[in-house]
Amino acid sequence: MPEHHFDIHVFCCINERAAGHPRGSCSVRGSVDLQEYMKAQAKRFSQGRRIRINKSGCLDRCELGPVMVIYPEGVWYHYQTKDDIDEILESHVLNGKTVARLQLSPGQKTLRTNEPVRVALRVADMRELAHDVCRYELVAPDGSDLPAFEAGAHVDLFTGAGMRRSYSLAGDPDTRQRYVLGIRREVPSRGGSDWLLDHLSVGDRLEASLPSNNFPLDWSAKRHILIAGGIGVTPMMAMGRALRRAGASCHLHFCAPDESRAPFLSEVKEIFGSELSLYFDGGDPSKGLNLSEVLGSPIEGDHVYVCGPPGLVSATRERASHWPSGSVHWEQFAPGVPESAPPNEPFEILLSRQQVKLQVSEDQTILDAVRKAGIDIESSCEDGLCGCCRVGLLGGVPQHRDVVLTDAEKVANREILICISRAKKGEVLVLDI
Ligand code: FES
Ligand code: FES
Repeated sequence: MPEHHFDIHVFCCINERAAGHPRGSCSVRGSVDLQEYMKAQAKRFSQGRRIRINKSGCLDRCELGPVMVIYPEGVWYHYQTKDDIDEILESHVLNGKTVARLQLSPGQKTLRTNEPVRVALRVADMRELAHDVCRYELVAPDGSDLPAFEAGAHVDLFTGAGMRRSYSLAGDPDTRQRYVLGIRREVPSRGGSDWLLDHLSVGDRLEASLPSNNFPLDWSAKRHILIAGGIGVTPMMAMGRALRRAGASCHLHFCAPDESRAPFLSEVKEIFGSELSLYFDGGDPSKGLNLSEVLGSPIEGDHVYVCGPPGLVSATRERASHWPSGSVHWEQFAPGVPESAPPNEPFEILLSRQQVKLQVSEDQTILDAVRKAGIDIESSCEDGLCGCCRVGLLGGVPQHRDVVLTDAEKVANREILICISRAKKGEVLVLDI
């Protein structure tokens, strides 16, 4: 057998096709940055061997992209994240063991639906806080470290009744030993939180998604103004811990009907100290926080973050409508009052990886149509609140109806939340599914 010029030779497709092309392309799915990352990391795994990480043109497995092929074995992989790259380098390149979960078989035409990653948890502590809110501390059953999270992140908890619900992480992002979160009884009840409150006790086990962050801090801000209503204080607690530790300027405005309905109040006081203003309005928002005073005259570098009931979130966004683009951040826990969304119309979707075209009727969501076609897609709130059903959008003009994507993301039209967003009659949305 002739000696190879390189011991390990990797080709990562970075082909780019125009937005809207039904096959999509590896570049549109992030391969350019990931190839550079792999190239930078590869030296660590060479151990004196000659390793080459090359860019390549289209490898003709576009529906499975991003793809790479590793020679001399000729093993193909689909990958999506830096963690995938690390795993391929450590397992395949360093230890000669293929990564089964990412490997593509010869002739494979579609991706296997991703097995959702679930984190096993045990309830270590549980305490009733304010009206209808419980504080939970969740740990790994074997006491090991939990997956890291950033301030503003949430996890989805899976209930025994087959539902999943999102909860912001309120604990210290620097602590991997526990997740702290608050669960409030839902009115009107949609079942998920009530099930957890009624069934979870200390010592019980449950599963969660990996942490994910739709509400990150912008560390370029000079001043962080945080506004929370009720249980909406939970992400602010993690933000406050991170910001105060970093010596960043921040102030929390915390609103609740009265002290007994202000969850986590003693912890909030500890975290924010003098950088806390409390507003107990007795249920009449006009007697509480004066948003015009707080948001009327932003100074350069101000960013505002709001989390809480839809009324508080929409009032904050409205009063801050003159703020610079990208400086207003929000997250809400319940569906908002429907904005003047146009009536539902039928349209079509093209699933680029499956090469399947589907009709979406006016009384169906995209998620319904995709599931009806036998494709399993994860969802949680199904109200456009959590971001769980976010997928890549490769073409077509959508009507975004969620509260997760930022205004800039909605204008960019590169992603869509398929539990709620739609399109107008005659439109064909090309989805990266
Ligand atoms: S675009 Fe990457 S395989 Fe075709
Ligand atoms: S499932 Fe929560 S946004 Fe779609």
